[in-house]
Amino acid sequence: MSQGNMIYEGKAKILFEGPEDGTIIQYFKDDATAYNAQKKDSISQKGVLNNQISEHLLLALGEIGIPHHFIKRLSLREQLVQKVEIVPIEVIVRNVAAGSVCSRIGIEEGTKLPAPLIEFCLKDDALGDPVVAREHITLLDIADDEELDEILYLTNRINDFLCGLFRAIGVRLIDFKLEFGRLDGDDSYEIILADEISPDNCRLWDVKTNEKMDKDRFRRDLGGLIEAYSEIAKRLGISIELEDDSTSGDAS
Ligand code: TMP
Repeated sequence: MSQGNMIYEGKAKILFEGPEDGTIIQYFKDDATAYNAQKKDSISQKGVLNNQISEHLLLALGEIGIPHHFIKRLSLREQLVQKVEIVPIEVIVRNVAAGSVCSRIGIEEGTKLPAPLIEFCLKDDALGDPVVAREHITLLDIADDEELDEILYLTNRINDFLCGLFRAIGVRLIDFKLEFGRLDGDDSYEIILADEISPDNCRLWDVKTNEKMDKDRFRRDLGGLIEAYSEIAKRLGISIELEDDSTSGDAS
């Protein structure tokens, strides 16, 4: 269990102070929310699966030179990461139309997009995380042009790499969400990938059947979420360790 003080509790994770300065511990909960937390549940083992899948994906991205916050996994639900100042925007990448973009611009689910579509959303629950233009982000002083160029460069590289990685295991990467942070250096700082990459924040469809293998199983009451996340882990070659039934997903 985590030792440091709690810094922040989000919908699916809790952040604790890490053992050394400049580190934090991400604790993955089993809580699932959708539609700005109007729909809520707890799905046993979800956090355990996301912790290990995200570890695998961030390490793979690190191998191709994508800077990220992951340091090491500490336990079934905890990982040690570098402390960053989160840039409060969600970067959404879409290869195929699904989810909110379908109703927003009138496009049918499953339509392959001619090129990846990158959207920015403000991380602001009170405003409902609205989609914003790059100009809104600079106007609000959330990030400057240089930072946004770096975020777009990293996002495109991440998408190229992950599309190939998932395609190789028979999965279509439909869309996903990224978050970035500023990592302090001696007299400068670097933009690095933060948060998590897991079936909670990606849409993943089986190549042959188009079966949904992601959080849409919860959003759309399809059932079988743990089976789908476990199948993603299995295809990625992760030998997933699960918690025994007597251990709860509570961080208390
Ligand atoms: P959307 O279709 O609801 O806009 O979501 C697009 C993708 O981004 C989908 O894979 C889910 C992910 N996402 C998050 O992980 N968190 C969020 O807050 C939002 C809006 C999307």
